[in-house]
Amino acid sequence: MMKVTDAGFVKEFIRMCEDGNSLGWHERNGGNLSYRIKSSEISSVSDLFSYGEWKDITVSVPGLANEYFLVTGSGRYFKNVILRPEESIGIIQLDNKGDKYRIVWGLENSKPTSELPTHLMNHETKKILTNGEHRVIYHAHTTNVIALTFVLPLKDEVFTHKLWEMATECPVVFPDGVGVVEWMVPGGRDIALATREKMKEYDLVVWAHHGMFASGPDFDTTFGLMHTAEKSAEILVKVLSMRSEMLQTITDDDFRNLAKEFNVTLKEKFIG
Ligand code: 13P
Ligand code: ZN
Repeated sequence: MMKVTDAGFVKEFIRMCEDGNSLGWHERNGGNLSYRIKSSEISSVSDLFSYGEWKDITVSVPGLANEYFLVTGSGRYFKNVILRPEESIGIIQLDNKGDKYRIVWGLENSKPTSELPTHLMNHETKKILTNGEHRVIYHAHTTNVIALTFVLPLKDEVFTHKLWEMATECPVVFPDGVGVVEWMVPGGRDIALATREKMKEYDLVVWAHHGMFASGPDFDTTFGLMHTAEKSAEILVKVLSMRSEMLQTITDDDFRNLAKEFNVTLKEKFIG
């Protein structure tokens, strides 16, 4: 008999957990992942569901009413997802108002990630803004970006410019830039609201002294976005460790030429 873990979207989800873990972004239970499941994918596994009790989400996401999500569990370790999927991850369904959720598969002796409010608010915002295209929200404790939040001003313009400057592919991979949220208590409504505001403009949001959130249409694109930004941050950390002044860099006009060649729009506020 088919198992939920045999479904393609579940395999891809588990693979992404493995990839993030192998890069050292998920110490202990750090980080979380969610995927808004397509209705065709749900019908392939719904015979295997058993429906738990409705529970409060603590935020209201009416734009996601009745949707199903595959999510990581609160307190669960990414490194264990591949070993014990039924207790590390699970599928939840939202009610017809978008106020409550119930577990329909997995999350044995567990519950969805404590960052569920931020995940769902990001999903709701991106579903509207991308016409349903975005389906993946990923939170990782990316070491180098976190390190930079101690030494750079916590401004969208500064982080965007610095990350663009450190790797030529960055303005092409995230031409809209990155948002920055100052330090806030994680796991609640306030940080979810602040992150949602940034997600209206960006696909990538830095949480000062904590990590990043990425949004994308599929697992590869979302992981690739996180990976590209973190790699760029790693280069900046190395540059700053070697010497305080750079001898040469990518100039403002270089950015403008790059935008022309790759047909992306780079806002002037991130260049000058
Ligand atoms: P969870 O284990 O609840 O997903 O929390 C991990 C985390 O990274 C909180 O920001
Ligand atoms: Zn975290």
